[in-house]
Amino acid sequence: MASVILPVLLALLVAVVFVCVSFVLPALTGAPWVPSSNDIVRKMLVLSKVKPGEEVYDLGSGDGRIVIMSAKEFGARSTGIEIDVFRAFYSKLLIRLLGLAGKARVIWSSFYRVDLSRADVVTVYLLPETNDKLTPKLERELRPTCRVVSHAFKFDWQLLDSDEGAKIYVYNPRPSAPLHGALPGVQDKQSEPHRG
Ligand SMILES: C[S@@+](CC[C@H](N)C(=O)[O-])C[C@H]1O[C@@H](n2cnc3c(N)ncnc32)[C@H](O)[C@@H]1O
Repeated sequence: MASVILPVLLALLVAVVFVCVSFVLPALTGAPWVPSSNDIVRKMLVLSKVKPGEEVYDLGSGDGRIVIMSAKEFGARSTGIEIDVFRAFYSKLLIRLLGLAGKARVIWSSFYRVDLSRADVVTVYLLPETNDKLTPKLERELRPTCRVVSHAFKFDWQLLDSDEGAKIYVYNPRPSAPLHGALPGVQDKQSEPHRG
């Protein structure tokens, strides 16, 4: 009897750990895993005008599809940040198998812990509350020329471009304008460079 129960318990334990790491933890820390379609990924990269040699960061990179496409089709140097250990290592493996190791990488970490100051383009497909929580970090760390492209959910910044049908929004992350405008003689924060 014990010879049956033990493997079953072990299999159950592995399943519970997998569900927690792959589904519960990401949902609690940023967003559950729902991949963007390849068509949407291509539109995100076109709309944010990714150029060869630019640094693209995907916050919550899932199976690595944005990281891989931006390196392979757009010639970018791309970095994915993924909290789920299984998807992070799956995408690392895929990058090696596709021969993209010099151009693309995935960091197994929370995006809140990674410095984003080298990014030219940041891609996200998260949740509205996660976008809000990320806003101060993005405003603090990103270069004034950096574009943020979001799938599905908006940020509280002025839009640079959008594809409403595909729900893709492109921004240049700047602190929101003060409610009543700047006082005379005081420079509006909106027009200042905002490097932290
Ligand atoms: C909706 S999926 C988007 C995946 C991919 N960017 C795409 O568009 O196909 C969100 C991803 O973010 C990851 N994630 C959630 N919270 C995170 C965090 N704090 N740090 C890094 N990744 C996170 C999830 O594991 C999941 O893979």
